[in-house]
Amino acid sequence: MKISARAERIEPFYVMEVAKAAQALAREVAHGSRPMIFLNIGEPDFTAPPLVLEAATRAMRDGATQYTQAMGLDALRERISGWYADRFGVRVPARRIVVTAGASAALQLACLALLDVGDEVLMPDPSYPCNRHFVSAADGRAVLIPTTAAERYQLSAAKVEAAWGPRTRGVLLASPSNPTGTSIDPQEMRRIHAAVQARGGVAIVDEIYLGLSYDDAYGQTALAIDDSVISINSFSKYFNMTGWRLGWMVVPDALVPVVERLAQNLFICASTVSQHAALACFEAESIAEYERRRAAFKARRDYFIPQLDALGLAVPVRPDGAFYAWADCARASEKLGVQDSWDFAYALMREAHLAITPGRDFGTAETTRFVRFSTASSMEHLQEAVARLRQLLG
Ligand SMILES: Cc1ncc(COP(=O)(O)O)c(C=O)c1O
Repeated sequence: MKISARAERIEPFYVMEVAKAAQALAREVAHGSRPMIFLNIGEPDFTAPPLVLEAATRAMRDGATQYTQAMGLDALRERISGWYADRFGVRVPARRIVVTAGASAALQLACLALLDVGDEVLMPDPSYPCNRHFVSAADGRAVLIPTTAAERYQLSAAKVEAAWGPRTRGVLLASPSNPTGTSIDPQEMRRIHAAVQARGGVAIVDEIYLGLSYDDAYGQTALAIDDSVISINSFSKYFNMTGWRLGWMVVPDALVPVVERLAQNLFICASTVSQHAALACFEAESIAEYERRRAAFKARRDYFIPQLDALGLAVPVRPDGAFYAWADCARASEKLGVQDSWDFAYALMREAHLAITPGRDFGTAETTRFVRFSTASSMEHLQEAVARLRQLLG
């Protein structure tokens, strides 16, 4: 069978490949004294809170299961609009909000709406691998720009200007970032946006971790800058609804009919039951629960990262959001006699029954010496992980 060049270009999502290996080993060791601890996948260990579950059950019971309009339920778009007003003090009219099947569908829609064959999109390295693959799937070309700890692993306006070429269409940034949990300084974001605008380009900002911000200096939406920003968001992370496949995007007015046309054809709509359930995310009781969980995520960060540092797994920049630790494993690899972060991750999996993600997925900038720990796991698991790491490396 002839496979398209487009499909051949797309690398595996190694996070999921490593997860498969970890799952297989987990079955073998499940009944031993050290069952597998999963710190590899970026998804909250919490599930949707009670009001959300009740709303989903009610929708199913009442037969509210037909397609919705492609843009999503009006009531949900209004609720999302209200969330921007309440939480960020930013006015985002519901008409510019498109409800999608997760941030993943929103990113695909953005790329398909904006890119022609060979158009280039600038992105930081390291960054979330699927984002460059969405560009590729739309026949564009992701240009990865290496970043450093001193830059908080984010692009600057100066770097964007220097990398801008004749085929550059825009930037795709994530703030806070996966895998580093670091955000773009709001002033720098303004400068990046100005640089992109001056070149007739577009700024797409993946804000899927924005709800999980722990630092007021950073936790601001790029939508505050200007209506031309395209913001991607999701119910997966802050709202703890990964498998419900629900997200949204905010687009400029001019893009609304274009995205609507694409969404109608490609997806028809996002899951109707999930949309009805998500309405309850914005009830005061649910928000209070999400805020308690955000505090738990912060407490985990505050516990785990100093422990990693003490074990020689240095985290060069303290994350201000999300639930990741981007750790340098060069010294620890030497101790275990392994070559790079890929082998280190597999050694931890085999010897400590700890699943983590090697850097390879996220680009090429020092990714052979970095690994990503996800701290979206209970404090007990994190403490046990530290004990096992200490035994192995201490
Ligand atoms: C930066 C980033 N963008 C997008 C996604 C996709 O999320 P969703 O579940 O909303 O499709 C993820 C998932 O981990 C992510 O980390």
